[in-house]
Amino acid sequence: MVTLNKVMNYIAPLPVILVTTRLEKDGKNYDNIIPISWAGIIEHSPHMININISKGKYSGTVIKKTKEFGVCIPGSKYLEQVDMCGCTHGNKVDKFKLVNFTKYDALEINAPLISECPVNMECKLSNVIEFKSHEMFVGTIVKTYVDDEYVSEDGEPDYRKMDILCYVNGYYWTLGKKLEKLFYTSG
Ligand SMILES: Cc1cc2nc3c(=O)[nH]c(=O)nc-3n(C[C@H](O)[C@H](O)[C@H](O)COP(=O)(O)O)c2cc1C
Repeated sequence: MVTLNKVMNYIAPLPVILVTTRLEKDGKNYDNIIPISWAGIIEHSPHMININISKGKYSGTVIKKTKEFGVCIPGSKYLEQVDMCGCTHGNKVDKFKLVNFTKYDALEINAPLISECPVNMECKLSNVIEFKSHEMFVGTIVKTYVDDEYVSEDGEPDYRKMDILCYVNGYYWTLGKKLEKLFYTSG
């Protein structure tokens, strides 16, 4: 075992999700997409998630104002579009136009969802927790969509078909292969 000279955080894999926002200004909608990997599950009743955005980013300021956001899960075929959304800023560029994603209206929130993403979720902001460099936005999921094309026979999302992206230590990965069902050793 090698002890590193510096402390690192090698937790992997992380998800690659697209968080959408809408800012209304002077009667116009300004829609945006921010790719996020520092994200996780907090609670299941109701379903709550956290996304962590570094302080001062455009998307974070919008979410604090509107108190809602979409969470859209892209397949790996949209790698380039995902990366482009992570290299540009919503206060300067219309990322929906930039990457040519198709919007559809959410039912419970005023933010766009992305047709190209096999899974979309609507979130209402429940809390913001401030850390040194990042802010943790806690969202309650209020609506969930799975594209029919990616629903398996048991009604669950088919992750093999979806071929979602992961983020590992500076690189994009895909998911890999399915092994056993959770708790399969419990008999
Ligand atoms: C795959 C990927 C994951 C990212 N994860 C995060 C993250 O978890 N938190 C964060 O603050 N920025 C993250 N970024 C960087 C933001 O997406 C990037 O700064 C973006 O341009 C900010 O958009 P905005 O200026 O429109 O808010 C990530 C970028 C990529 C490509």
